[in-house]
Amino acid sequence: MKLAVTKERRAGEARCAASPDTVKRLKGFGLDVAVESGAGAGAATPDSAYGDAGASIAPDAASCLADADIVLKVQRPLTAAEGNDELAPVKRGAVLVSMMDPYRNRDQVADYAQRGITAMAMELMPRITRAQSMDVLSSQASLAGYKAVIDAAEVFGRAFPMMMTAAGTIPPARVMVFGVGVAGLQAIATAKRLGAVVSATDVRPATKEQVESLGGTFVAVMDEEFQQAQTAGGYAKEMSDAYKQKQAALIAETIKKQDIAICTALIPGRAAPTLISEEMVKSMKPGSVIVDLAVENGGNCPLSEPGKVVVKHGVTLVGHTNVPSRIAVDATAQYARNLFNFLAVIVDKKAGTLNIDPADEIIKGVMLTRDGAIVHPAFAGA
Ligand code: NAI
Repeated sequence: MKLAVTKERRAGEARCAASPDTVKRLKGFGLDVAVESGAGAGAATPDSAYGDAGASIAPDAASCLADADIVLKVQRPLTAAEGNDELAPVKRGAVLVSMMDPYRNRDQVADYAQRGITAMAMELMPRITRAQSMDVLSSQASLAGYKAVIDAAEVFGRAFPMMMTAAGTIPPARVMVFGVGVAGLQAIATAKRLGAVVSATDVRPATKEQVESLGGTFVAVMDEEFQQAQTAGGYAKEMSDAYKQKQAALIAETIKKQDIAICTALIPGRAAPTLISEEMVKSMKPGSVIVDLAVENGGNCPLSEPGKVVVKHGVTLVGHTNVPSRIAVDATAQYARNLFNFLAVIVDKKAGTLNIDPADEIIKGVMLTRDGAIVHPAFAGA
């Protein structure tokens, strides 16, 4: 069986779907691995490193994808409407493993079905213990949480740690983290390591202990609704208008004392909650920084702009998109490993063939299309 890894062609994507480490492991499954020349360039990995790991280097995407049984990607393929039909060389029956953003690209899901491609959307991986090593949202969000704090430090005109020097005492930076999921927890840990005084807020009760165990102060409206805010899947619910008002009053009080806000709050399938209003931005000290990791989902602050760093009311708003790609070497290593762990579920190592069990909870979670049909219940009829 042939497995293909092409260069990512979406703008601003530096990651790659395989690392030399996973190429070696995939070879161990008896697969022929083809990597397109330059695929690892954004992640500081030359062709020779993939070659040394056992891959054959294809000069272009078409030769890389020709006759491939499995195609690994980071982002969903470009379409003809976008000027490059990346799936054109891919044969019917091939398995495509990628992040696919399927809820926002339902037409493309239908297209995978029409082309007879078996599409596996990695961001739909169920959050069960067995699938933790395949959880691309977690591996990438954790790195994004770290990088968000580093991005804040870069534009912040002051130091993070307290410094007592002969020239005077520098007070520690005050960092507040909005949303204590995977990204938020890593942001708290990173800001603490840099010496900041850290607080954090979330609507899920489980996060209080997590914040405190990292040495942060937990700030939240802890009423009855808060006690019920976590769904069975571990995610947050959209809160009532009454709760949002109480939360806004508390944040308004807290945020004026902060130097840096790291925003990571998301609600699956919905726009990100607005947590920092324009009035609150105005109340912050000049030189403060807001890094809005939620910017691609509408943002936790309405003033942040996707892909831009802007200054408004004296506050720098950092709106980088695709933050994991900004730390592409580690993001590639972890994403590639997630994909390898998933392939271990769908490849029969002994026979060297595909063995996709539609009854497996993991497959049920991620498989969008198969044999020319949409099989995922959330997209059937798309
Ligand atoms: P996410 O990216 O959907 O959301 C980030 C955070 O924003 C969440 O903590 C959420 O509660 C918070 N949030 C939402 N609305 C808010 C509001 N109005 N105000 C303040 N905060 C708000 O979530 P993520 O990071 O993907 O993880 C969510 C949960 O899943 C966590 O409990 C995590 O520990 C758990 N998890 C479980 C895994 C497993 O069992 N395999 C793997 C990864 C995460």
